[in-house]
Amino acid sequence: MTASDAAVLAAEAEAQARFDEIIAADSRIEPRDWMPEAYRKTLIRQIAQHAHSEIIGMQPEGNWITRAPSLKRKAILLAKVQDEAGHGLYLYSAAQTLGITREEMTQQLIDGKAKYSSIFNYPTPTWADMGAIGWLVDGAAICNQVPLCRASYGPYGRAMVRICKEESFHQRQGFEILLTLMRGTEAQQRMAQDAVNRWYWPSLMMFGPPDDESPNSARSTAWKIKRFSNDDLRQRFIGMLVPQAEALGVTLPDPELRWDAENERWHTSEIDWSEFYEVLAGRGPMNAVRLQNRRDAHESGAWVREAAAAYARTQAARSDGERQVA
Ligand SMILES: [Fe+2]
Ligand SMILES: [Fe+2]
Repeated sequence: MTASDAAVLAAEAEAQARFDEIIAADSRIEPRDWMPEAYRKTLIRQIAQHAHSEIIGMQPEGNWITRAPSLKRKAILLAKVQDEAGHGLYLYSAAQTLGITREEMTQQLIDGKAKYSSIFNYPTPTWADMGAIGWLVDGAAICNQVPLCRASYGPYGRAMVRICKEESFHQRQGFEILLTLMRGTEAQQRMAQDAVNRWYWPSLMMFGPPDDESPNSARSTAWKIKRFSNDDLRQRFIGMLVPQAEALGVTLPDPELRWDAENERWHTSEIDWSEFYEVLAGRGPMNAVRLQNRRDAHESGAWVREAAAAYARTQAARSDGERQVA
């Protein structure tokens, strides 16, 4: 080994030690800090997946904007779907600080090479789906995301703080839609219950596979990206839903659901993980439609991107000119 090789190795060991220290102290890694390549890659994958989920997640609800039952409902739903677009933007920006471009991430998504949350591959046939999505899907998102506000990577944790505030509004608006339906006619009550029946199990799957089948969890936990296990978060979510379902007057579609006092946990029926893996593999009811819509939107937005780039070039040229005159 040459002297310069030894110096490189020593510098790397020192950088790793500093990284470990920051993680151990529950402090934050910032974009300027050295980080292990695997940490960077894991974060890029997780944050990009999260951003894609926000963007694809606009579709199931966007489907109802023109058909919302009143002006007030339309305004609320529009604001909610716009929030999701904003979440996508914060998260793409956070991922960019790790050295990937927005274009690369978008390309991976429209080429079908990137994953996003499977929950958005289910259809939204009735207005009650807007209620069930807000209550169950945004509710599960909150359980998943509140601990991410303390994620060890600074830009990700900070983006999550604002996202979580908006998610709690999303959950309330969903709960309120269901409450209104449950106080309505019998047909409205049936519609609400039917939507809850369809979204309940997929929302439990949002926490990911059981702990013993979740291969990357241990490393993400050691890096303090992940703070709680998939099963613990799922338990916490069920504990939140049970009293809310009672207040709504809806039934959670699991005859085996009960509090197991001895083990201090919720006992549930077996989750059908084969469905989860089918949807994840691209064979869910709406996968193809969601991706096609995203591709179409990207193509029809090409002129906006070109116009924005042309405008930026003229602005830059103008300020160069002004500088020379000055
Ligand atoms: Fe969101
Ligand atoms: Fe949301």
